[in-house]
Amino acid sequence: MPIYFDNNATTPLDPRVLEAMQPYLLGPYGNPSSVHRYGRAARDAIEAARVQIATLAGAQAAEVTWTGGATESNNFALKGYAEAAAAGVAKGRMLYAATEHPSVMEAAESLRSRGWQVEVIAIARDGRIDWPKFEAQLAAAPVRLAAVMAANNETGVIQDLTRVAQLVHAAGGYLLADAVQAAGKIALPECWQVGDLMSLSAHKIYGPKGVGALLVKSHVELSPLLHGGGQERGLRGGTENVAGIVGFGVAAELAQQELAQRAAQALALRQQLEAGLRAIDGSIIFGDGAPRLPNTVQFAIPDWEGEALLMALDRKGIAVSSGSACASGTGEPSHVLLGMGYPRATAFGAIRVSFGLANSATEVDRLLDVLRSLRAERAAA
Ligand SMILES: Cc1ncc(COP(=O)(O)O)c(C=O)c1O
Repeated sequence: MPIYFDNNATTPLDPRVLEAMQPYLLGPYGNPSSVHRYGRAARDAIEAARVQIATLAGAQAAEVTWTGGATESNNFALKGYAEAAAAGVAKGRMLYAATEHPSVMEAAESLRSRGWQVEVIAIARDGRIDWPKFEAQLAAAPVRLAAVMAANNETGVIQDLTRVAQLVHAAGGYLLADAVQAAGKIALPECWQVGDLMSLSAHKIYGPKGVGALLVKSHVELSPLLHGGGQERGLRGGTENVAGIVGFGVAAELAQQELAQRAAQALALRQQLEAGLRAIDGSIIFGDGAPRLPNTVQFAIPDWEGEALLMALDRKGIAVSSGSACASGTGEPSHVLLGMGYPRATAFGAIRVSFGLANSATEVDRLLDVLRSLRAERAAA
């Protein structure tokens, strides 16, 4: 049986989610902007889903805006804020952490050409913010926006967003928290209480791909990225992906109901894998010592290049990642590990295992057995 250990890249659709989506794919349901009964039924469905997302995040329903995934949410937050600020207040400094997802990094970098001063927030070796450097950076001049993710997609390292938010707010800025990987694994309300903008994605919590949300506090002004028919209070034009949104809502509700049980199940697997890895001389668990997501382990073992190990495991039917899916295949080591100060040679060794609902202790044993036999084969060669 093949083993799927790449749940931070994407999760399979939960059959309960599919069941909830089906009527909205097959009809008869209308365009949520239509005033007839079919339109009203579709509108009711997306408003019910908005409440489900808000409940998971400890937010108000009015704070939830639908997007086509978290890449759009992050672009919308950064560029939408920059655009609104350009129309009103002066441009200024925008910061993002060195370990952010490319959808944050690239969107922030694109604002340089629009006159923003974009700076990187330094990260310490354990994956957390380098606090002395961050405090000095904030003290240097006012900041308008800082992007710091709730939990990292590669290492699983969880940031102290309460402390980040206090510092950013004191420096006059807003906080964008990418909570894509935190959702369904740790409690979100703590993140949303302190943040000003927050990104979520359905396909990381057993919902469909291509649907996400940006949560926006009422004091933050954003310009739309997509102009159109006035949907989402004029913030995001385009007919809503009704079935996708319904699926996202149900996935969020299930994530909330099952959070404790999912986290406990994943943590047991993580501990089992880490115990096996620690027995391998010279192995590294990235982010060790920092609080981490219960389902994520990024590691390196001596004499193995990550991409080669990934392919060797794939031949044995075990799917892992050598970093973020988007960066794999680029021939570049993970920017996350480089951001944590690891040398390129170490970063090239990284393998990420991310557990999901379907994984079992037997599968972790199989992975450890395969790792041991691959090492033995290589030693004998
Ligand atoms: C932390 C993080 N942010 C953003 C994204 C982008 O999400 P989406 O695939 O919905 O565009 C991902 C997906 O890998 C992610 O892990």
